[in-house]
Amino acid sequence: MPALGALTLAAAGLLPMAAQAQGSLVLYCGVNEDWCRAASTAFERETGIKVAMTRKSSGEILAQVKAESSNPRADVWWGGTGDPHLQAAEEGLTTDYKSPKVGELQDWAVRPWEQTKGRTVGIYSGALGFGYNAKVLKSRGIPEPKCWADLLDPKFKDEVQVADPNSSGTAYTLLATVVQLMGEDKGFEYMKALHKNVNQYTKSGSAPAKAVSLGETAVGITFMHDMISVAVDNPDVKTVAPCEGTGYEIGSMSIVKGARNLDSAKRWYDWALTPAAQEFGAKTKNFQVPSNKAAPTPPEAPKLAEIKLIPYDFAKYGSSDERRRLLAKWDREVKPLSK
Ligand code: F6P
Repeated sequence: MPALGALTLAAAGLLPMAAQAQGSLVLYCGVNEDWCRAASTAFERETGIKVAMTRKSSGEILAQVKAESSNPRADVWWGGTGDPHLQAAEEGLTTDYKSPKVGELQDWAVRPWEQTKGRTVGIYSGALGFGYNAKVLKSRGIPEPKCWADLLDPKFKDEVQVADPNSSGTAYTLLATVVQLMGEDKGFEYMKALHKNVNQYTKSGSAPAKAVSLGETAVGITFMHDMISVAVDNPDVKTVAPCEGTGYEIGSMSIVKGARNLDSAKRWYDWALTPAAQEFGAKTKNFQVPSNKAAPTPPEAPKLAEIKLIPYDFAKYGSSDERRRLLAKWDREVKPLSK
């Protein structure tokens, strides 16, 4: 029998499906699960590359990529807040790549790419805020909060939910935001006072939005787009841009250093920067602002130009030393406090 190529055999149906796959990709996904799944499936369909996807929070992915650095498992880290991506770049855990798509991106998305010499790039952006369940607040006779300061009122005791900043990029954004808004001493005083009103520190940053919608907590601190994701289906959920001003994220993407499937990783990277791929966000009710200039911003997305945004210092708060220092201080001075 003459030697037959794999393609011929595959076309003749003589090889199992796996052998027909055009490569594989191990993806650590930092956005919401539904978006992770929709994007992975679409990419597989378009490219034939098999995706093994795991969804985790930003701080958890950083810890895992670090733990695996001598024998990397992941190829691409897609999504999650930018600060841990910047830290990974500084610590040499990720590698540089100049995608032909970088030229199509908003300036705010290119900045982290320039800052890290190509090791991480912005894929979306969104403002931090909070949300509340108006029905729950009304039933308890609590006034609707408008400002960060309102959340310290003893009336909110055990009524506020937020994630743990070690696992969650959202909660780290909160910590870095109050430090930048109020100064470090007052910012930590704020986190300590807030702690008295927190009913639970969740692992994932968007979990408090779901809890607000279910009425399990009156208030949740999350990115505004995560609160809007539940508010579109539940009119009792209200989303707030805090009156004092607020921080924001540049959700990011990086290729893991030593990625075994480097070609597949680059295919994903280029694809994820296209308008068509970025539209899977809105299609799965994730209302961030996409980074490709030609990708439409979903009408539900908070209007960033109308929100009082602080000039968030990504270089400082995404640096390895500063992020580690702030998290250690929060672990020491805030988390163990009694309520
Ligand atoms: O996908 C929702 C989202 O809020 C992103 O905008 C953000 O980058 C990510 O989740 C942060 O998740 P976590 O706080 O769990 O790290």
